[in-house]
Amino acid sequence: MRWSGIIEAPRQRPKDGADDTSWFVGTEGSGYSLRPSDAQNTRRLSDMSDSAKPSRRRILVTSALPYSNGPIHLGKMLEDMQADAWVRFQRMRGHHCTFVCADDAHGTTTMLAAEEQGVTPEELIERLRQVHVRDFRAFRVAHDNYHSTHSEENRALTAMLYLRCRDAGAITTRQVDQLYDPEKQMFLADRFVRGTCPRCGAEDQPGDNCDNCSATYDAMELKSPRSAISGAVPEVKSSLHYFFELGQFETFLKEWTRSGTLQRDVANKLSEWLNAGLRAWDISRDEPYFGIKIPDTDDKYFYVWMDAPIGYLASFQNLFARDGGNERIEDYLEPDTDVELHHFIGKDIINFHGLFWPAVLHCAGFRTPTKIHTHGFVTVGGEKMSKSRGTFILAGTYAEHLDGDYLRYYFATKLSPSMADMDINFDDFVQRVNSDLVGKVVNIASRCAGFINRGHAGALSNTCHDEALWQDFVDAGERIAQMYEDNEFSKLVREISALADKANQYIAHHEPWTLAKQPGKEQAVQDICTMGLNLFRVLMVYLKPIVPGMVERAEALFGGAELTWDDHAEFLKDAKIEKFEPLLARIDKKVVDRLVEASKEDVEASKEDVEASKEDVGASATTTSGEITQSQYIDYEEFAKIDLRVARIVKAEHVEGADKLLRLTLDLDGDVRQVFAGIKEAYEPARLEGRLTVVVANLKPRKMRFGVSEGMVLAAGPGGEDIFLISPDDGADPGMEVR
Ligand code: 2FM
Ligand code: ZN
Repeated sequence: MRWSGIIEAPRQRPKDGADDTSWFVGTEGSGYSLRPSDAQNTRRLSDMSDSAKPSRRRILVTSALPYSNGPIHLGKMLEDMQADAWVRFQRMRGHHCTFVCADDAHGTTTMLAAEEQGVTPEELIERLRQVHVRDFRAFRVAHDNYHSTHSEENRALTAMLYLRCRDAGAITTRQVDQLYDPEKQMFLADRFVRGTCPRCGAEDQPGDNCDNCSATYDAMELKSPRSAISGAVPEVKSSLHYFFELGQFETFLKEWTRSGTLQRDVANKLSEWLNAGLRAWDISRDEPYFGIKIPDTDDKYFYVWMDAPIGYLASFQNLFARDGGNERIEDYLEPDTDVELHHFIGKDIINFHGLFWPAVLHCAGFRTPTKIHTHGFVTVGGEKMSKSRGTFILAGTYAEHLDGDYLRYYFATKLSPSMADMDINFDDFVQRVNSDLVGKVVNIASRCAGFINRGHAGALSNTCHDEALWQDFVDAGERIAQMYEDNEFSKLVREISALADKANQYIAHHEPWTLAKQPGKEQAVQDICTMGLNLFRVLMVYLKPIVPGMVERAEALFGGAELTWDDHAEFLKDAKIEKFEPLLARIDKKVVDRLVEASKEDVEASKEDVEASKEDVGASATTTSGEITQSQYIDYEEFAKIDLRVARIVKAEHVEGADKLLRLTLDLDGDVRQVFAGIKEAYEPARLEGRLTVVVANLKPRKMRFGVSEGMVLAAGPGGEDIFLISPDDGADPGMEVR
């Protein structure tokens, strides 16, 4: 998606010097970690000798890198919740698992969006990265690192892989004719060309296929073509392109795709392409392009899909550097490594992960992925997510209304190891969470804990009251573990649900509430409730990868120790429990209705999120580490173009329907302006009225959903509640210039 904003000429990156990398995201310290403080994962992969624990696997896991072009939606969140649950499971089993992601920052879309918003691509991608990190955190997706493909690690790794492929003879070049926008002076990808369909004559159709008759064609076949960027009539121009000769790897790929690395339906799909014959892959793009320069060229960049999967490796490398060891991702790329590499992806990108990526790695002499875990799309009410129906649900909007654990559980009830699409039906969602998770599972603890807390001062008895039932629960452990391993989430939830039924039947059969009223039955009540709580604890072990927030609260009930998989076979006797606190509330359907309503606003809201955060921090010229990088220096003349003025806030008001914005009425010595500022979370409007601040007075007025914004107030801070409006010292008057 693109945002409306201010258009100015793109800022130039340094012209030459492949080694001038000052425009990249910084290296050490720039990644984000969402990992929980988890002592068993602090050891480095390299510290783990196999002899220390032969069965302990070393596993690298990734989820697909979201583009730096908008917030995360529930379709993407499905993937990360699945990967996160898989990783949590492996860690509970004692395996060493490292899970990373990053933003997929490069490409024409990023370049144009930044240009349109009047910011540098670096500023835009950093802002989006913060939004993405916030979204994942709300769903307890605990990547160990969240990096960016626009990073020095990625530049170096991409160059290295490319050069190895070139040395292996897999890179060729040839002239390619392409449509060129003479006004913007850039080549146009098909999606940036519009014109009349060569088949049916429908006007204003995209450059690759017709919305009217579904014909697919080459952009050069379009009649009356126009650049979608400038409106200019494109010219045909030739330029040198670099190709990866995918066809050289046909035999390898035919074998690799059938080696158990892919689900069967994925392998079948790839066979269709493999059997049709593989064409060379165009991996270069001409300037201007926001990307990584191809070594030994002046003006050629890697196509975004060349460096995107290498971004996985870059994120691991960045993490290793931040952890301060000598570990290098290359050590785990050796063909004979025993370190596993797992990618979680959506079915729309299987060609990149199942053909190009393994071919590039193999060609470079490296290992290939151990497994690609592919999921289908998320639909809502049986249909594609739709903005107008309010079913295009952004992760951030969901998180404002409901706990992420609810959706993690719901997705798990439906997820299978296939590419089948996964439907969200809100009635079903409420029903499954309320009756299965809260009604059945949580209910076991709430039925038993009260008797132990009240009647026995929190003390469990020293007896396992029903050995056979206990054994049933323990025996399920290996079956459930295998299902986690195989992504059989819906099956394992059914198995857990059946166990919960058995636990409830046991409690209902023994009726501790009746016994509690009978004198002399105290021991029986304690034994039954001890049994019930132990069964519940086993279920918490089995559910922990899926609903980590809820299980953390359950862990507190049992004294706070983190549950590991081995705990499923340990019966707690003579132990004490804490006071029972509610573990998970039922979902109120009205909240779901509000979520759907709020989602109808999301197209606009996502614009404002980014626009507001732009205003929150002004035009930040710092890297994440806070240092100003050399490429971001500006001349005084450039600075002097900005008309900064003292302004008095005469009125500050909430804006109906806006989460982040306040409407400010500013007085610049008689020049009265309306400005929308993204400072709502930090300021009560009443606190602002009467005070002075500083405003960018010559910012081009911007039309927003709520009205026109005629300037920008200056503030410091990362955003949210931490925003600090700039004020002049006493003596300054409205309208004064700031220099
Ligand atoms: O399809 C997408 O959203 C891509 N940004 C995924 C990239 S995954 C990996 F290869 F980087
Ligand atoms: Zn047509």
